[in-house]
Order: sequence, then C-alpha cells, then structure tokens
Amino acid sequence: MHYQLNTTNYHNFATFAVNKLPPRSYFIPYPDRAAADAVTPKQKRYSSPKVQCLNGQWDFKFYPRPAELPTQLDTDAVAFDQIDVPSCWQFRGYDRPFYVNIRYQFPYKPPVIPTTGKAGRVFSWLGCDTGIRLQWKAPGEEYNFVGVYRRFLNIDNAHKRHIISFLGVASCMDLYVNGAFVGYSEGAHNTAEFDLTGKLHNGQNELVVVVHRWCNGTYLEDQDMFRNNGIFRDVLLRTEEPSDLWDMDAKTEKTADGYTLTLTAQTLGDTDVTFTLQGHGLTRTSTAHAEHGTAQAVFTALDVTEWNAEAPTLYDIYFETATGCVKEKIGFRTVEIKGDVFLLNGRKLKLKGVNHHDTDAANGYTMSPDDIERDLLVCKQFNIDTVRTSHYPPDPLLLELADELGIYLVDENDLETHGTFAMQIPPTYNSISNDPKWESHYLDRIQRLYQRDKIHGNTSVIVWSLGNEAGGYHNTDAMYDYLKLHSALPVHYESAIHCKRQAYDVGSEMYPSVKMVHDVGEKCRKQARLNDRPYFMCEYAHAMGVGPGNTEAYWQEIYSYDSLMGGCVWEMVDHAVLHKDGSYTYGGDHGEWEHDRNFCVDGLFYPDRSPSTGARIMRYIYRPIRVRHIGGEQFEVFNTTAFSVGRYQLTFRWNDGSETVLTPQTAPLTKETVTVPLGKAVDGLQAVTITATDLTDSRVVSEEQLVLAQEVSAAPAVTALPAEATVENGRLVCRCGGKVAVTGAEESTLLYRAPTDNDVDAMFHNLMAPYTHQTEEVVFSGKTANGWKIITKLRNKCGSYTVTDTYQGTERGVLVTSVLHRVSGGREVPRFGKCFRLDAAFDAVHYLGRCGESYCDMKDQFPIRAVDCTVADMVEPNLRPQESGNRTDCTVAAVSDGKIRVVFEAVGRPFELGIKPYTDRELLAMKHREDEVRTGTYVTVQAFQQGIGTGACGPGVMPEYRYKLDSDYTLQFLVRIEDEPAR
Ligand code: GAL
Repeated sequence: MHYQLNTTNYHNFATFAVNKLPPRSYFIPYPDRAAADAVTPKQKRYSSPKVQCLNGQWDFKFYPRPAELPTQLDTDAVAFDQIDVPSCWQFRGYDRPFYVNIRYQFPYKPPVIPTTGKAGRVFSWLGCDTGIRLQWKAPGEEYNFVGVYRRFLNIDNAHKRHIISFLGVASCMDLYVNGAFVGYSEGAHNTAEFDLTGKLHNGQNELVVVVHRWCNGTYLEDQDMFRNNGIFRDVLLRTEEPSDLWDMDAKTEKTADGYTLTLTAQTLGDTDVTFTLQGHGLTRTSTAHAEHGTAQAVFTALDVTEWNAEAPTLYDIYFETATGCVKEKIGFRTVEIKGDVFLLNGRKLKLKGVNHHDTDAANGYTMSPDDIERDLLVCKQFNIDTVRTSHYPPDPLLLELADELGIYLVDENDLETHGTFAMQIPPTYNSISNDPKWESHYLDRIQRLYQRDKIHGNTSVIVWSLGNEAGGYHNTDAMYDYLKLHSALPVHYESAIHCKRQAYDVGSEMYPSVKMVHDVGEKCRKQARLNDRPYFMCEYAHAMGVGPGNTEAYWQEIYSYDSLMGGCVWEMVDHAVLHKDGSYTYGGDHGEWEHDRNFCVDGLFYPDRSPSTGARIMRYIYRPIRVRHIGGEQFEVFNTTAFSVGRYQLTFRWNDGSETVLTPQTAPLTKETVTVPLGKAVDGLQAVTITATDLTDSRVVSEEQLVLAQEVSAAPAVTALPAEATVENGRLVCRCGGKVAVTGAEESTLLYRAPTDNDVDAMFHNLMAPYTHQTEEVVFSGKTANGWKIITKLRNKCGSYTVTDTYQGTERGVLVTSVLHRVSGGREVPRFGKCFRLDAAFDAVHYLGRCGESYCDMKDQFPIRAVDCTVADMVEPNLRPQESGNRTDCTVAAVSDGKIRVVFEAVGRPFELGIKPYTDRELLAMKHREDEVRTGTYVTVQAFQQGIGTGACGPGVMPEYRYKLDSDYTLQFLVRIEDEPAR
C-alpha cells in the first residue's frame, strides 16, 4: 500500500499533536457487570470483548539513515523484519542501548533536533565519562533513526466507532491506516488515542506507525535512563457503541456526615447511565440521563471504611449503560496540608518511599503486568509504602495495583530538561521551563497525566508531581494552575528550588545532607518555602553500588519533626542490559559516544529484583515498629505507622535462648515503654533480637537486634611461637603437615579499599586513588623472645606510615599485633587491615558477627549471629565489582578446606572482616561480574574501615565514620589452625 509520509511533525515545534483525542481517564469497558466482575486488574486489558489488544509480532523496518526513509512509502516493497510490540528496539537488536544521564544525545539548540543529517557536534561540560570539562564531541554516525511498524488488522464491524490507544511510544508517532495519515503524537509515557472510525473497513486493514528516535518533545524527556525507542507499551483497539462511556470521573469528599462520592460519566451519545457504589455492606445506585453527553450521581452521607496504604479498603464503582459497564475501584481518604503538616485521613504520616522507573534488563522500558505487580509486591515486602513514579506516568496498571495493594504514589509528569544545565554556559535549569513558547507543550503533558490518572487521585495518588529537574517557572506555574483547577491534591516539584518559586505545595529537595533536613525541621533554611510547608525528600540515599550509608540519620530527623514527610530512596532497581550469556552491561559498554558509565546501576535491587544490601537496609530502616533499650528491663517501643495499632507481635529472643512475646498497643507515631526480662550473656555476648510479625498475614516485617554487651577476651599469655609458624619475607607463614596453610598476603597491610561507587567527590574524582598507590617495604625483620617483629614502611600518595607487626605464640594460636603509625602526611586512612592468603580450597566460611554486608555507617540491618557460608557469599554481586561484603562486629572467623580450618579470633575488641575470592588489588581492575575470577581465598582482619556514605550523589562519609590517625592504631587477633572434626 502507498503512503505519503509526513516529514515534518517530529521536528516542527508547533506540532505536538495532530488529531489526537483529548485526554480521558484510563479504563477498560466490558459489555456488562458480570463480565467486568470476572477479571482481575492484571487481566482487564486483555479480556474484554470491547477491546482488542494489538500486542504481538508486528512488521518492522529500521532506518539507520533517516534520509533513506522514502516520503512515498510503498509498504509492499519494504523488506520488513519482525518485532514484538510492546518492546524497545534497542533491546531487539536495532541501534544499541545508549545510557546517558543529564545530557541530550544531540546538540543543544531547543527546540531544534536533528532531522535526516548527522547529529552534529555536541557541546557539554559535565559527564561521568569525561568529568567536568568544557568539550565538543563528534558523535559520528549518529542519526535520528526511524522505525516503521506495520501490522494487519482484521475486523468485521467497520461501521462501529473504533478508537486506537497507544499507552507508550518513544519518542513520537505518526499513525497511518489503509494508505492515509491519521494523526501524530508526542509525550512518550502519555496515552495517545486516535479515532479510526470510518478509516477501517471489514476484512484486512493495514496500520502503519512511524517512530522517530527524537522529536521536539525529546527536549522534555531528558530523564536519567537508557534512551530507548519504540512502541514500548500496549496498543489497544476499542470498539465503542453510541451509548458507551467516553470518560468517567469519581470524586470523594469528606463532609460532616461521612463521605460524598460524585460519579460523572461522559457518554458518546444520549443514554441512561446507572452509577453504583458497592462494597463492605454498602450499596448505592442511581440512574441519570446523560444530557449533552454528561451524567452524574452524587452519593452522600456514606459511612465507609477509609483507605490508607496500611489497610487499603476499596469499594467498587460501576458505570453502566445499555451497552457497557466500566468497573473501577476507589478508596475514600482525605489528603490535606495543615500549616506545615501533611495529613492523610487527618493523621500525620511518614512516607517510606522509593523512586521507581519502568526498567527491565531484557526489555528496557517495557514492563509486563506481572513485572509491574512484582515490583509493587517487592515494595510491600521491604516495608516500602510510597513510590514516586520517576520521572513519568507509569503504565496505568501500576496505579490500579497501588490502590489495591496499598502504596502511596507521587504521580509524576513526563518531564525533564536536565540537559539545559549540562550543555550550556552559564548552566541554568530554567531555559526551557521559563520560556513561554513551550507552555502549550507543558500543558499537554500535565493534562494527559491528570486526566488519565484522575480517579486514582482519590486513592493511591496522594501528590501530583510536575516532573523532574526542569527548573521553572513560567511553564511549571501553568501546569500547577491546571492541576489546582482540577484537583484538591497537593502538587510537588523539586526543581522549583532552582527558580523563583522554590517550592509549590510541598517543599522538596534531593540528596540534602542530614543537617539541611534538620534545619528544615528547625525552620531555619534560607529558602523560606522549605520552612513553611511539608517537606519531602523526593530523592535521597542514592543506592549506587555498596550502600547507602548513613541513611538512618535522616529518619532520626524525620521522626523528630512533624513537617518532615519522609522521602524516596533513589532508586528501586538497577538499570542494565541483560545478555544471552547472563551477563549485564551498563553505560559505555555499547559503544556510546557519550555515556554516564554505571550511574544507571543505582538501585536497591539488582535488575532481577534480588535485593542488594541496600534493600535490606531500607527494609530495616522502614520497619513499622522500632525498639530501643532504655536501661534495665525497660524497652521503648515506637510505632512508626500512621494507622496500625496492635498489628505487630514482637518476639524478644535473647542469645541465651530465653524469649518474651508481646503485642504492644502503642498508638501511631508514639512511643511506649515495655518491660522485658533480660537474657544472660553467652561467651560475652548479651543481645536480643526482636522479630516483628504482622498479625494480619504472619509476615515477618523486621528483625532488630539490640546488643547490651559484647565482651571480647584479652590476649592470652605469650609463649614461644610453635614450629609451624614462622616469618618469611616479612610475612607470617603457618604450615600444617608441612604444607603452607595460611600466609600473609603479598599486600599484607591494607590501608585502601577498591573504590565503591560512593568513593567519589562531587567532581567525580576517585577518593580511593591516592591510597591505592600503595607500596610496602620491610625495613626490619627479626626474632624476639617469643616470636618475630617486622617493621614495614608503607607509602601512598597521601602519606607515609610504619606498620609494626609482632607474631607471638600463645596457647590459642599465634597472637598478631599490628600497630599503624603515621610518619607524615595522610592524617586519615580509609582502612587498616591485615590480609592473609589461603588456597581457594578454603571455601567454607564460619564467623560470628553481623550476618551480612555491613560497614560502620550501615550495619544495624544485620544482627550479630553465627554464620556458615562460602567465600562467594562474602562478596556482593554488584554489577560493577567493588569493595563489598565487609562484616562488622566479628569475634571469630574461620575458613576451612574440609580437613583443616584456619581460625581468626578477636582479642580485646571485635574486628571487621573481609573475605574475598581475589585480592583487593585484583578487584581494582574489574569492571563487570565476569571479571571476578577466583585466585585464592583472602581473609582481611581489620581494625576499621571507613563508612560508605552516598558520595556518588549526595553527602559523602560523615566525619563520625572516618578514621583519623592522630594516634597509633593497634589491631590484635589470634590465628590458629584446627583440624576439622571428623564427620
Ligand atoms: C537525580 C535525578 C535522578 C537520577 C539521580 C542520580 O538528580 O533526579 O533521575 O539522575 O539524580 O542517579
């Protein structure tokens, strides 16, 4: 079939929609109530006889040279491939994945975008790949690629009204049917609907969609994510009858005598509409005639159970006409701001949130209903009750599931112009958002967000968000005004902080320091609008690599001040690309000419949604019940929920085996004292682990350990070194049966660590680099009365040090005493540990200490307990290998080859433990999981290792988690070899 293709819509600034239907609520009609009742939200879209889902194999032709796309397209002459819809073409072998954070992929000249020629030279001054540097880059063979989609459609009811809905297409789409142009749309994450009535005929129809990589709208979609393209969400064909619903709305309002529910239907023609509210013993029905296409029912004095995320009570609402039934679920709740306090149902609440991107390592932006549901269920399991849909409206299913499962949503507009900052001098956020010529483009986006999601504004959506990192304020004001006209919900927009507005209804910041948050609580921030309204951290605790460290400190503040609403961790899931062999890649691995490395790998969860330590930290910090030891048998219980009383059963289990079970009736956001008999210390440890169980579903929501005492025995009396222990080349060597069992590693003292993603400063400098240039020189090695004394000179780029090691005999093994002394420079060191090498056969690990990855500023999530595991379990599977797997508060560690075990025992105080299958130096060179080749077993016993912080994006390691060398540090422990007990 022949098509005259439109060649201008995608780059004509005035055009962001052609023949696109006005926005409306997302819903799926069914023929009648019984049919509507029979489906779950996940099935809804795929099971209605009134809606045909056009997902599946489509024909696809990719044009790497846009100039080669003929303006007269003869689809019969095109050699099409096949692609699945929905999908992103970069994840199906066309173009390639391209990850960039702030910068655009083309020269910054808003609203101009490349058309058929090369992208051209690109200026920027900021990027992870280059650091902070003014530069022009030539992207090379980069074009505004085009994908042409085609599918045939058989119908037998062409006389009826047909509407086609695209739930997500990036970046834009020109739609054609049966040889004729239908319409055009921009706004990748917004729904685009077109009326196909009269354009289809019975039998086979041809549908063609032309998708450009970039359009003018791409200037508004500069979000930090892989830049993908294609028809990435479902495509639906709706068959509509004259008496069907065009749109519907529901509005709840709390009045003196209960709730009022107003249901509004817009119909296509004149018809009766029956409105029903039903659930929990309540039924109200009313029929109204749609005058001029609008019908309404108002149900008053409703005695309902209110919805909240802790107890998400929903009611059914039905809109029925002679030809169809739309069923939705709705909650009743209020949201209001009183002074500087955000209230839900009149209660203060603290939002325990994450930022959620639609991201899948095999499919890019495309998420199946199961994927969406899984993500929300994972949130619930990890005590996360709030999702910011960063940075665009999610698939509408996510809202339905959030209503049902009980998740608060900050529903965000598809908007970010971050490149305005990185690609011009002087940098400013506001160039586009304060430029009135873009106003209509902004309004289109906010209208489409609001109209699509409006009914969820009664339930899970508690805040609208104007977008992310786009500055302001002319166009953001216009969007704000639109929302205020339509909705009573508060409006959030963090980037207002970069313009005169400072804040809309809710003060917001990203990555503030704890001090800044404290100052908001104290109302002494210099930005007045942060002090006088509720304050929300739309992003904090950047979860890249190991970390986030020091997150609890924020919650100490949040719980101290009513105006602090909580916040959303950045972010839920790592973005990466999964390959057939199971490997993952990140920015720069796909030949991107500019990229931001692994900055996209910054989730609490790995791409397969398995939890990293970060997820466990947040599950702990977001626990609904907290316990603190006050003294004696007195414990303070703190109910951090807003609505639940008596819901969590606490089991206090002491390490001597004694147990107390109680279910406190503490009121929300208050504290109460309970009495619990103390257990006895066992081997110096007196600790209680409090397990909180949700009595509504038996889920264990947290394990919290309080350590009352951890005593470690002093050094035993010194005797002569046994013959099996000696010193060679300045390193301890212990033999067993004549064979070397354990020896000081080649780098026997470690003052550095392989940099975590957080070991950078704001200029992207690697803060570990000066320490990793380490040299060791043995300057003295000699026998003493009971052993050996070795003095090693250690130098790095920060300073020089001496390490004095003595090895002496005792009845519990070799006593290692290592004293670190600063000679010059480097007043601070990140780590002080002694490293030992064993063969890889020593794979079985046993230790007593924090039972998972922990550093001094992130350790409470794991109780101290005895653990048996393997060496592989002692490092974390970060997509970019880095220092990981540290264990704090250890009193003993052993590695075994099945025959003998080498035991490291603390002396005087617990040590920090690292066990790795490779050396820290080898780790320095690794870039991906596949690089983690085993070369032995390396045990590092440490006096300390500095905290982790969130320096990748946010505050670095706090002073209290750093180690100054004002005086010498002494590390002491025992090493011995034991036979494995015969089995
Ligand atoms: C924020 C931004 C996020 C993400 C994060 C860093 O500035 O809003 O989208 O880029 O930084 O990972």
